Amino acid sequence: MEHFLDISDHSPDELQDLLDLAIHLKKEYFATGNPPLFKGKVLGMIFQKPSLRTRVSFDMAMRHMGGDALYLSPNEIGLGKRESIADVSRVLSGYVQAVMARVFEHAHVLELAKWSSVPVINGLSDFSHPCQAMADALTIIEKFGKAKNLNVVFVGDGNNVAVSLMQISTKLGWNFSIASPEGFDIPAVSIEQAQQVSTGTGSRLTFLRDPHAAVKNAQVIYTDTWTSMGQEEETAKREAVFPPYQVNAKLVGEADKDVIVMHCLPAHRNHELTDEVADGAHSVIFSQAHNRLHAQKAILARLFSVA
Ligand code: CP
Ligand code: NVA
Repeated sequence: MEHFLDISDHSPDELQDLLDLAIHLKKEYFATGNPPLFKGKVLGMIFQKPSLRTRVSFDMAMRHMGGDALYLSPNEIGLGKRESIADVSRVLSGYVQAVMARVFEHAHVLELAKWSSVPVINGLSDFSHPCQAMADALTIIEKFGKAKNLNVVFVGDGNNVAVSLMQISTKLGWNFSIASPEGFDIPAVSIEQAQQVSTGTGSRLTFLRDPHAAVKNAQVIYTDTWTSMGQEEETAKREAVFPPYQVNAKLVGEADKDVIVMHCLPAHRNHELTDEVADGAHSVIFSQAHNRLHAQKAILARLFSVA
């Protein structure tokens, strides 16, 4: 594995291997602590947008395994503004052993990878959030095992998190449905790609407008903010369109009785997800957030070729 930029770049076997390793590293962490496999390694973390989970979980993943991480703020780097992305990438490659980048435009993380001589990880772009999807898959497997016939349902905006969830569901053979309002669909190119993958893995893809129809028989209901970072000027328009897509107790009650409710966080409580559901019996939002740590240790270990 050279980089970790998008779930679509990886085969089902490669993704399953990463998840198996994540399960192993998680068990090991709680039993004895992880061995210092990342000793002498530093992860450079470029952030063009705010973060709690991505920043802290990558930093702690490195520390738990004997390595270190360096936070590089938007003001310091000025990616593509103070200096070209190609130059930033070539300079950083000589200082650190891997780069994680959270960017606005997906093309920017691809450009970093193009010029980098060390592995590059996509820590969220406007197009996808592959590290989140790995933690999500780990959380789903912990709850339901490796069953193939799961119904994973995303309710809301067809955004970066939805794209990565669709990709991983399709790769792992889970059925994936999304209910989104008109104008907020998953990009057509990603849908076509997922449809091709699904012919090999047997997963069923469904695209709907009605959240109630979507959640019938769902084992997983997933939602995310109605307004992603970088779309702030559209907030009022989105707040007017999305209320029928709120994940509340009524909607959750229409799903499978063992349904889990997921959210990548940060949550805008009582907008896309009610307090009652976020803090209720079906919610796994905090174990999902904690699983970022274990999923990312596995990604780093494979990129460093140390496990
Ligand atoms: N889910 C997620 O990526 O959270 P942060 O934006 O806090 O990193
Ligand atoms: N879709 C959200 C995810 C945040 C982790 C965003 O891009 O802001």
